[in-house]
Amino acid sequence: MSNSPITILAIESSCDETAAAVCKDGQILSNIIATQKVHEQYGGVVPELASRAHIQNIVPTAGTALKTASCALQEVSAVAFTQSPGLIGSLLVGSQFAKSLAWSLSVPLIAVHHMQAHVLANLIDMPKPSFPFLCLTVSGGHTQIVLCRSPLDMQVIGETIDDAAGEAFDKSAKLLGLPYPGGPLIDKYASMGNPKRFSFPEPQVPGLDFSFSGLKTAILYFLQDNTKTGPGFVTENLNDICASIQSRIISILLNKLKKACFETGIKQVCIAGGVSANSGLRKAFAGMGNHYHWNTFVPKFEYCTDNAAMIAIAAYYKYLAGDFAPLSTSASARAEWS
Ligand code: KG4
Ligand code: ZN
Repeated sequence: MSNSPITILAIESSCDETAAAVCKDGQILSNIIATQKVHEQYGGVVPELASRAHIQNIVPTAGTALKTASCALQEVSAVAFTQSPGLIGSLLVGSQFAKSLAWSLSVPLIAVHHMQAHVLANLIDMPKPSFPFLCLTVSGGHTQIVLCRSPLDMQVIGETIDDAAGEAFDKSAKLLGLPYPGGPLIDKYASMGNPKRFSFPEPQVPGLDFSFSGLKTAILYFLQDNTKTGPGFVTENLNDICASIQSRIISILLNKLKKACFETGIKQVCIAGGVSANSGLRKAFAGMGNHYHWNTFVPKFEYCTDNAAMIAIAAYYKYLAGDFAPLSTSASARAEWS
């Protein structure tokens, strides 16, 4: 094997962020994200608009990632991209770009699973978890507990049977009249509120699976009842309502994570995905870790929400294992865990 560095240009385009990153021998040198503002006015991501924005953003974003890393195109050893899961139109833009670039540079192509990359975001910076570890991956589309035995060997041991945790945040925010994405706003208002003021039910779901649809319905009825008597109820109590909703979402997540730790005996525990940017979750997770003597790990904020650094780190481990994709490979909206 040659001693030249392994330099990976990674592309992430699974939803509404066009992102590119460069990683050299496992170190992230740049992590660029072009956020698509066009969706805000629609209260959610519009798939066709996302694909069009990716087409406009992808070349400049990849260019900025290379420039920021002071990396010439000729130095790239492999091109990585998010293959699945995600919005198919968005994924196709990233995959076609990555395939064309890999072909034109005559370098290997690496296909990455978006949710596995969220888990591996925990391996970007020190301190890193040792294997095996558990990861609670919480995003806008997924809520999973993953048992990670090695960078290439992961198993989902629990997941949501309906809404994802991010959807629980975003749909609750919508009911409160807050704009999309509502998760960060609930986080902000919750930090000024009393989490014990209102009580929302905890669902009874067997095993390590989650459910958030009952919570959404409970919030809907709670708001209907209370706004009947006082139309200003939400504005007057926004901080306490957000704190109470957030506290319930966090307890649903952490109770199942605790169960998974007890059942597996694993004490290396991580969180990942967009919702792991939530300050209340990060604090409660750290507190729980201290209490049960777990080693807890949380990626930096910029590696929690969708980004290409996590795709680059996942691709780095695939590169080391020689796990390359043929140019005939294609994107897929849904994905099996391999
Ligand atoms: O991982 P991600 O960026 O995209 C997906 O793969 O889905 O996650 C996006 C989700 C959204 O639902 C957003 O509201 C939520 O993460 N989110 C948050 C926070 N920051 C992002 N939820 C709660 N608190 C936050 N601070
Ligand atoms: Zn994601």
